[in-house]
Amino acid sequence: MCGIVGYIGSKYAAPVLVNALKKLEYRGYDSAGIAVLEDEDIVVRKVKGALKNLVENITDKVIKTSESMSESECEKREQELIQETSKYVKGTLGIGHTRWATHGEPSNVNAHPHLNEDGTIAIVHNGIVENYAKLKAWLQGEGIVFKSQTDTEVIAHTINFYYEQFGDIFQAVTASLKKLEGSYALGVLCSDYPDRIIAARKESPLIVGLGKGENFIASDVPAVLEYTREVYFLEQKEIAVLYEDHVDLFDEDGNKIIKQPYHVEWDISSAEKNGYEHFMLKEIHEQPKALHDTIHPRLVFDGEKPVDIKFDDLNFDEAFKNAGRIVITACGTSYHASVVAKYAFEKFARIPVVVDTASEFRYRNPILKKDDVFIIITQSGETADTLAALRLAKENGVRVIAITNCVGSTASREADDVIYTWAGPEIAVASTKAYTTQLACLYLLALKCADLRKTISAQEYQHNIQELYSLSDKVSEILEDKTSIQKFVSRNFNKTKIFYIGRNFDSATSLECALKLKEVSYMHSEAFAAGELKHGPIALVDESTIVVAIATQKSLYDKIASNIEEVKSRICTTLVITQKSCNRFKNDEEKVIYDEVVKVPDTEDAFAPILSVIPAQLLAYYCAVHRGMNPDKPRNLAKSVTVE
Ligand code: AGP
Ligand code: GLU
Repeated sequence: MCGIVGYIGSKYAAPVLVNALKKLEYRGYDSAGIAVLEDEDIVVRKVKGALKNLVENITDKVIKTSESMSESECEKREQELIQETSKYVKGTLGIGHTRWATHGEPSNVNAHPHLNEDGTIAIVHNGIVENYAKLKAWLQGEGIVFKSQTDTEVIAHTINFYYEQFGDIFQAVTASLKKLEGSYALGVLCSDYPDRIIAARKESPLIVGLGKGENFIASDVPAVLEYTREVYFLEQKEIAVLYEDHVDLFDEDGNKIIKQPYHVEWDISSAEKNGYEHFMLKEIHEQPKALHDTIHPRLVFDGEKPVDIKFDDLNFDEAFKNAGRIVITACGTSYHASVVAKYAFEKFARIPVVVDTASEFRYRNPILKKDDVFIIITQSGETADTLAALRLAKENGVRVIAITNCVGSTASREADDVIYTWAGPEIAVASTKAYTTQLACLYLLALKCADLRKTISAQEYQHNIQELYSLSDKVSEILEDKTSIQKFVSRNFNKTKIFYIGRNFDSATSLECALKLKEVSYMHSEAFAAGELKHGPIALVDESTIVVAIATQKSLYDKIASNIEEVKSRICTTLVITQKSCNRFKNDEEKVIYDEVVKVPDTEDAFAPILSVIPAQLLAYYCAVHRGMNPDKPRNLAKSVTVE
């Protein structure tokens, strides 16, 4: 959520900053701005709304010059105008920001960068200054007049206050940081120091990109990939001072520190659309590879045949053998992965599993025991609630395993053990490949745990490993033919509500299917355990409703069939997602019970969640497109939720 960028080098800063901000658009934002040092003055341009508004504001030209311009023509013209920004804002040193408002409405005035009173210091900030009211009162007492309603503006004036006192910008920044409570990633520019940018972070993420004769700051790696793959991940309270030709790093007290840059393996194409209309569709199609990359390195092969699971340098065998419980916390989609994991661990390893949303976990004074195995799941590794749960567990002396997709993220650095989902960067706000690869890691853990605790036989263990290994091909098979989902959507995208129902593993999958749909299409969707329908939700079912039954659990086919008949008799539209060999769901001549059946390849029931979610991801995607929404950037949502 929110994007920070900064550039110092010999190129014009404005196009570099705007382009880098475009790479962070996926994070979600409501306004955008840049500050560039031009000769001796800081020039600020900032506006409410999308980055294209900022480009239009800087160049004083419109992007869409005629109604008939296609999306790709608009994108091309936007790129041309981004390059032209250097004609209007000329400096080679600057900072930029996409804001996700927490304090003060989205508006031109509240957009970042913010300045001190005489406009000689500019800052961009991601996070929340929790004690801003106190600082504001103090600064107002000093005679400062505030221009915005943001918490951020106090930082600009506080730095100015200490700058006047010390006459040194670095000292002024370090002193100011000590006054701030809450979270920050910060970029600071001062016109008296035309050779540097100062950056710092606490809680909110920030990286430094190391180029040749140029350096960068950014909230996330994709922003700098076009220029460099060498980055520093700033740790809590670290400060960086960037010059054209080098970067100095300091701890919070201003002591110099040395750290090794990290070489990012992704190439730029992983952060581009590569011919797909949207990132979401591209990422749905990347799932076979993502699953293969996540599962394969963790298997031990006997010839061609996978026979065992290993987590290389991790050694949690004893912890799993002796565990009293497994506790999993996460948010959103990652939480839904944990619900599937509960079924998997309990089925295979016969161990009690407690799952909780991270936002609830820490406020219920949770009972943690030394023999708990504590797992957090977070695609971004930066979700504030999930990190708080991680820290709470560690404070209680419990060892924490993090499952994350982001190397160098806060979760990966603070957890005791890290398991990476090798899904590659996920740009679309709605998680798809991160979810299925989280499931893959959790299944690997559940099977390993079952083997260690001797709750499954050697044959079952090996059979399940082989089945898990085959899932990436089965996902490819589903993606080869999307016609039945496309047809179903084109007939039904204007219905007002969709309910997902399922039993056992399928009820866990339903949660994720319903979330995906509401996130990108804004249709009202809910998930219900199928057996719960009759206890209330069935009152909502009418002809404007679609009920999607996830029906992959063989022993429960008859039960879910009864649930579908129950809702079908309330005249709704029904879709069934089931396994290929299932013949239970058929319409006979007189009675139309199922409007559409989508079949996924046969698998062990326990692994069906990885397959049955794929048609639901496609359904969400096509509903969004039919309803004219951009699935990559759903309203009000941010990719990485770094505030509580
Ligand atoms: C997923 O589609 C959502 N955008 C959201 O629910 C997300 O899963 C949640 O915010 C948790 O994010 P994390 O995995 O990065 O911690
Ligand atoms: N709290 C700040 C604001 O509301 C920063 C928000 C952000 O991280 O974008 O302006």
